[in-house]
Amino acid sequence: MSITVRQTRVSVPEIRARKGGVPLVCLTAYTTPVARLLDPYVDLLLVGDSLGMVVYGLETTVAVTPEMMIAHGQAVMRGAARACVIVDLPFASYQESPQQAFRTAARILAETGCTGVKLEGGAEMAETVHFLTERGIPVMGHVGLLPQMVNREGRFRATGRSAEEARQIVDDTRAIAEAGAFSIVIEGTMEAVAREATAASSVPTIGIGGSPACDGQILVSDDLFGLFSDFKPKFVKRYAEIGPTIAAAAAAYAEDVQARRFPGPEHCFAPKKSE
Ligand code: KIV
Repeated sequence: MSITVRQTRVSVPEIRARKGGVPLVCLTAYTTPVARLLDPYVDLLLVGDSLGMVVYGLETTVAVTPEMMIAHGQAVMRGAARACVIVDLPFASYQESPQQAFRTAARILAETGCTGVKLEGGAEMAETVHFLTERGIPVMGHVGLLPQMVNREGRFRATGRSAEEARQIVDDTRAIAEAGAFSIVIEGTMEAVAREATAASSVPTIGIGGSPACDGQILVSDDLFGLFSDFKPKFVKRYAEIGPTIAAAAAAYAEDVQARRFPGPEHCFAPKKSE
């Protein structure tokens, strides 16, 4: 007799319960094949709006739309069987009001089947985080360096150098945790600030340019694989150099095609002997 073991997805309560425990392993994913490859190794896959830059070649994430997030959210859900999948709310799809955030988030959950959404912002977004979580939408917060604010800041800049900024990040983390977020990304801040914010938060913090003291870590997967080479933030560690491997394969293919070495007889159709 064979027993079928149901493969269950990592849940929001399981992620919450990892506060102070074994660090959460998180990565971004945007496509089905990559989600399938990463799924066995991660607790959480984020369909980040970073896809605007790493997949679509945009300079910032500001022009990313809910439709783009839904298409890639669906693709990731097709590839991920066990990781908790969270989809970013893109710029201008949630900042106007808690009601606007609810409509966008509910649409993303319904159309992708993902578990929850991530939104950027500190204490000013606490009311929205509360509104969504009270209505059944799990929210991951995002404080510190906020890529969607690039036009206000003028550039992507690490924060928390001054005492005032440091205090703000700790207060923002606490406010978003108290509003009901199930975890909070802390991006691009001083190590000591991310450490203090983690201590101040009742829910897991996920560092990216944060601190080893965070309750988990996340990277943009294309940075980790060496696929995105427009720039390399200080906090990125490359675990592979896929970009040069792809370029070398394309060069070898081009040589083979021009020398008529490809396709070989084994790649061509011919009638079967009996035909
Ligand atoms: O959009 C994204 O990929 C993110 C991560 C960098 C956390 O927000």
